Amino acid sequence: MFVRRLVLHSTCLTLEGNEFSMDKMCALQKTLLAFCLFASAMASPIETDVALQAVAQGAQLFSVNFIKTVGAEQKEQENNLISSPLSAHIALSMASEGAAGTTEAQFREVLNLPSKSQSLIGFQNLIGILNNVENVTLKLANKLFIGEGFPVKSQYKQDLQTYYYSDIASVDFSQNVNAANIINTWCKEKTNNRIESIVEPGDLSPSLALVLANAVYFKGNWANQFDPKATTDRPFHVNANTVKQVPTMYRKGNYKYVELPEHKAKCIELPYANSEISMVIVLPDEVDGLGALINNLEQVSTECNVRLARSYEREVKLYLPKFKTESTLNLGDTLSKKLGLPEPFSNSANFNGISDVPVKIDKVIQKAFIEVNEEGSEAAAVTGASVRPLSSMWKPLEPITLEVKHPFLAIVKYNGLTLFITKIVW
Ligand SMILES: *[C@@H]1O[C@H](CO)[C@@H](O)[C@H](O)[C@H]1NC(C)=O
Repeated sequence: MFVRRLVLHSTCLTLEGNEFSMDKMCALQKTLLAFCLFASAMASPIETDVALQAVAQGAQLFSVNFIKTVGAEQKEQENNLISSPLSAHIALSMASEGAAGTTEAQFREVLNLPSKSQSLIGFQNLIGILNNVENVTLKLANKLFIGEGFPVKSQYKQDLQTYYYSDIASVDFSQNVNAANIINTWCKEKTNNRIESIVEPGDLSPSLALVLANAVYFKGNWANQFDPKATTDRPFHVNANTVKQVPTMYRKGNYKYVELPEHKAKCIELPYANSEISMVIVLPDEVDGLGALINNLEQVSTECNVRLARSYEREVKLYLPKFKTESTLNLGDTLSKKLGLPEPFSNSANFNGISDVPVKIDKVIQKAFIEVNEEGSEAAAVTGASVRPLSSMWKPLEPITLEVKHPFLAIVKYNGLTLFITKIVW
């Protein structure tokens, strides 16, 4: 009976050795590091802990830049998009823990990380909190797959284990089919089979040093149910000329809703069974208004969040399409050329904290999946839709009707931290 959301996400970074030795005695000098960040969701705490706050703030600052940049790149493409800036942030932070010198400085600046000791403690807290969010399923897992024989520094392994709750396993990358199978099986397990594979055997080779994986699985029920019987096919205006019939859910109920006339947009917030997690739908006023919104995404999403936080719930007749989408983003160029992280991808990369064997980042791939539907979920027999009592000073407003019937954004956030951003254009 409840709308069930599933979010899956994955990021894959591949680090490649930047110095190929002619010395055949040392196969390890041909190295390739794959950072395979898989699936991601996110969290943010209201803790006094300075380190935690610093890391959460850093993640959110990075998210804003990330979304703006990826959004702009994707603007022209008439495709749906699901992405998790948080996942990218965690994967890159894991890499950054092994960086040194100017490479490390670049990471700290772009990821907005505090000092090394603070960021380790901060991530330890953040990941711990994320894995203990009640009423929804949010699971974040990390794992380091080390090529048999590759010399990873013990301090790095220990830091990942202690602060990122990362498991460590040794894999024989020369058996690439088997190695891919081991990594993909782990990814599948951590994402409830939602992402079948993150690496292909062809991505792996004897020269591979390690794969660093981060998996996040999110499944949440709305705080307030949609009635599946109210779902009907309704027109969705893909653009000024194209109309499609899409299954559209309907619910009349109380929601936080704001209009942003200065941005020609409206926002509505749909809480999950845990009131700290919600989905914000940002709908442009115009059928073809999404491009302009994405251009100003930073201001629009900030404005939206600030205004929603201040507003009261009001009665809304909401028409929202069910949707399901999956994206694969190749983020290497975005990170190195647009977000200010060139050095980790260059031959001057310094990952001295990971290994004495020189390595650089080769690829960062993010895979993500989201599904919004109204099938029941045993996990959350949520009772009692929360209706905020209106203060006596507050006069009920006329119910408004919000029809989400042209391209829009759906942003999942936890305590103000962006977990996922979805663009639905159909
Ligand atoms: C979790 O669900 C229970 C029961 O519906 C509710 O009382 C509680 O407030 C929820 N927790 C959060 C953080 O929303």
